[in-house]
This record gives sequence, C-alpha cells and structure tokens, in this order.
Amino acid sequence: MRTPIIAGNWKMNTSIDEAVALVKQMKDALDKISGAEKVLCPPFVSLVSVRELIGGTSIKLGAQNMYFQDKGAYTGEVSPLMLAPLCQYVILGHSERRQYFGETDEIVNKKILSALNHGLSPIVCVGENLKQNEAGKTTEIVTGQIRRGFADVPSIDNVVVAYEPIWAIGTGKPATGAGANQVIGLIRSTMAELYGEEAASQLRIQYGGSVTAANIAEFISQPHIDGGLVGGASLKADEFVAIVAKAAEIKSSLRKPV
Ligand code: PGA
Repeated sequence: MRTPIIAGNWKMNTSIDEAVALVKQMKDALDKISGAEKVLCPPFVSLVSVRELIGGTSIKLGAQNMYFQDKGAYTGEVSPLMLAPLCQYVILGHSERRQYFGETDEIVNKKILSALNHGLSPIVCVGENLKQNEAGKTTEIVTGQIRRGFADVPSIDNVVVAYEPIWAIGTGKPATGAGANQVIGLIRSTMAELYGEEAASQLRIQYGGSVTAANIAEFISQPHIDGGLVGGASLKADEFVAIVAKAAEIKSSLRKPV
C-alpha cells in the first residue's frame, strides 16, 4: 500500500511573513486530512519559521534544493547537514534547477546520494521538454534521467520520484491522467529493473505540472500515480487543501474492497 504524497513547491515565492501567513491559513485543515502525506516546501529562509508553525501537526517539511557537499567553501550553497535537522524531504533535480542552474544528471546523482546519507528523503524530479515530447523521446529522456540519477544509489526505500513534463509546468496545460500514468508506469518498471519488483512497487511516484483542485482527481485515480508535486496551486491555501483532501479521499476509496 503506497500512501499518497502531495508536496507544495512554493519555488521562489513568499517573504518570511507571507510564508507564515500562508501556513497559518492552511495548517489546521491540512493537519486534519488523513490518508495522504502532506509536505510544504517553502524557500530556505522560511524553513525555520514554517517548522515552528507546523510542529505537533502531521504536516511535513521539505527544502527545494541542496548542495551535495557537507560543508566548506561553497558560497551561497546550503548543505544536507543544515537541512537534516530541519526537514524530512528535499526536492532534487527540479527542471528549473536543470534549466537555469545547469544541474546535470551527474550532479543530481551526487545530491541524491548525499541526501540519503544524511537521512533526508529526496523528491527526485524527472521529465521531458516539449521538443523531446514532440519528437517521441519521452521514454528515452525519462528513463535516462532515472538511470543516471540513481547510479550507485543503493536503495530507493526513502525516495520519492516526481514525473514533471516540462511543458506542463506553470503552463496551465497539464498532461492527461492516462499519459502521465503511462510514463510513471515506465519509471516504475525501470526502477524494478534496477532495484527489483518489490522495491519498485513500494516507490511513490508523483505527477507534477499544472496540478489544481479541478484536475487532481484525474491523476490520483491512476494506478501508478501516488500524488502530486504542486507549484502555483500550492500558494493558495484553499486550493492546496482541496488538492490534498481530494487526493486522500480518492485514493482511499479506490482501495476499499468492492
Ligand atoms: P506548477 O509547478 O504546479 O506551477 O505547474 C509544478 C512544479 O514545478 O513542481
């Protein structure tokens, strides 16, 4: 049984005051929802404040990135040693990191290894761009990112993967549920080749890209899809709560024996 996981990726939005206000708006409602794991990923500077606010609730905290070295002369970077006492999750290899900050699969690989070594659960993002999609290269791109990203990673027990087609991120043009399920099924079978059927069947894989309260049902009702990585819609308290509530409700109704 895979517990669905919905993570809000706030990206480079919210001041500390705005982050605090946003958490206050959604905290009680989110806390009450059972049957789905809830993760907030605010900017680094708000992690401490958000952590304090969600203490004692069922809401978990994630960072949006980290460097793979523990410490040293890496001006401007944030290390896993700094994050591990603060949060449980860290988003790694988001397409915006790959696109604007030159992150390669090799860098993502080092980050995954480092996060796991420090007890952080990585949410590893993969996905093809529009050109690759139109050229029919989705399978090749996504499985390549998985194979290189997970090279020498001993176990995927504490890993979450997010399939985020780049053409669907922030565009208001999500993938279809069936289309996302197909690619996510493929990620699962690639993981089965690398880690065995059992580990792959336990792995949680999210869909991300223009997820809203209006379309989450289409994704979460798919057999391979275990949640969402939500950008824009996670900045609106009511919308994010509605996404999490629907995901929890639909997944648990699908599980009930008929
Ligand atoms: P979006 O972003 O929901 O705004 O499309 C998703 C993401 O990039 O994680």
